[in-house]
Amino acid sequence: MGIESDFIWFDGQMVPFEQANVHVLSHTLHYGLGAFEGIRAYEQPDGSAGVWRLKEHIDRLIDTMRILQMEVAWTSEELQQACLDVLQKNGFSAAYLRPLAFLGHGQMGLGARGNKVHVAIAAWKWGAYMGDDGLDKGVRLRTSSFTRNHPNAAMSRAKVVGHYVNSIIARYEANDDGFDEALMLDGHGFVAEGTGENVFVRKGDEILTPPVTNILPGITRQTMMEIMEHEGLTVKETLFGRDAFYVADEAWMVGTAAEVTPIGSLDRRTIGDGSPGELTKKLQTVYHDAVRGKVDWMRHHITTVAL
Ligand SMILES: Cc1ncc(COP(=O)(O)O)c(C=O)c1O
Repeated sequence: MGIESDFIWFDGQMVPFEQANVHVLSHTLHYGLGAFEGIRAYEQPDGSAGVWRLKEHIDRLIDTMRILQMEVAWTSEELQQACLDVLQKNGFSAAYLRPLAFLGHGQMGLGARGNKVHVAIAAWKWGAYMGDDGLDKGVRLRTSSFTRNHPNAAMSRAKVVGHYVNSIIARYEANDDGFDEALMLDGHGFVAEGTGENVFVRKGDEILTPPVTNILPGITRQTMMEIMEHEGLTVKETLFGRDAFYVADEAWMVGTAAEVTPIGSLDRRTIGDGSPGELTKKLQTVYHDAVRGKVDWMRHHITTVAL
């Protein structure tokens, strides 16, 4: 599955895919100061495209831009509408949306302030991020030898282009060692997150997830909390070490791209019996149905556009 589409929204215009280009001297390309989002749209029962938690994603994009001191020339509403327009123009009822705010060319150097802030929104068809097998059977993780970005080095509330160097080197290391994904620890050895996912573990009645101190405040993480609260379950947001996984009954990763992916093992230690746990499966089902407009009490999270 490629990343092609017919049109990309670029600074307010619908531009043919091949023409949505930038100059090699674009500032962000050199230094990584840029903001981005990952959003999914799912086909709804009436055939329309339904974007999951669109406002939250665009608001996080704007927050990231503010943290980076990038001028925000568009309102949240305008950018939300642009996402819907991209789906409609490409005829996509289900797609992954990638808004990106970056600095153009003109000035170079770290102190340059004069480059234009560009915003592009692309969409493409994207299946299961960790593969269909990963969703069904669970993935194999290794604890990364790389430390997660420190919050005073790379502000984790922000989804910054350059932060993902840390994620990519960890992901490469895990994949080169034969694992599907990396579990990243913070500078004190506490569990932070996956390279592009938040994590949860359950042992008995205790469900743990790291607090929003050095992790991206994931929107899927928030959805998980809402579903578990609705099910009468309590989630503890607390620091814990990798050993919580070693003794867990089940563990799972969540993210817009990864959706709800069971974790089968960490560091070759099987979690539970190695197959997706009962709660993981429940969350997968509710999430799968909710994003497709089949869970009444969560339908307010969907913004639809007719094709
Ligand atoms: C580092 C990181 N953590 C967590 C997540 C999950 O966030 P969300 O559920 O908002 O997609 C992502 C994905 O954007 C991510 O890149």
